[in-house]
Amino acid sequence: MRKAIVYASVHHRNTEKLVKDIAKECQVDLIDAVKRSDADLSSYDMIGFASGIYFSKFHQSILEFTEKNLPDDKKVFLICTYGESANYKSIEQILDKKRSKVIGKFGCRGL
Ligand SMILES: Cc1cc2nc3c(=O)[nH]c(=O)nc-3n(C[C@H](O)[C@H](O)[C@H](O)COP(=O)(O)O)c2cc1C
Repeated sequence: MRKAIVYASVHHRNTEKLVKDIAKECQVDLIDAVKRSDADLSSYDMIGFASGIYFSKFHQSILEFTEKNLPDDKKVFLICTYGESANYKSIEQILDKKRSKVIGKFGCRGL
């Protein structure tokens, strides 16, 4: 099963630490949405989206990346790091339009 995590981590690299630790344990390709605006996700069976929370949203780079590159009907999971509280609404609105199946969510404090 091919897996990828698309992430954005621009403040303290908190989210990046998390996804890099996941990648040490699980076979998963990491895609930095801040550095790459395009990737072909069609061959992945499961795709994670990971971000810090900024003004109650996933980072804009992840939202734009998802809108542009996520094929319809994919299995996805969500990860966020936050200061106050997790908030998945911004990305879930895009995932709804793409008929994604959200199989899990995980959030933890970044600092
Ligand atoms: C500009 C800015 C806005 C933030 N807005 C929120 C917010 O609305 N809610 C929240 O819980 N945390 C907020 N945070 C805290 C970050 O979500 C938290 O530090 C996160 O771990 C950053 O992830 P990163 O280091 O991977 O970029 C904000 C941080 C910054 C710098």
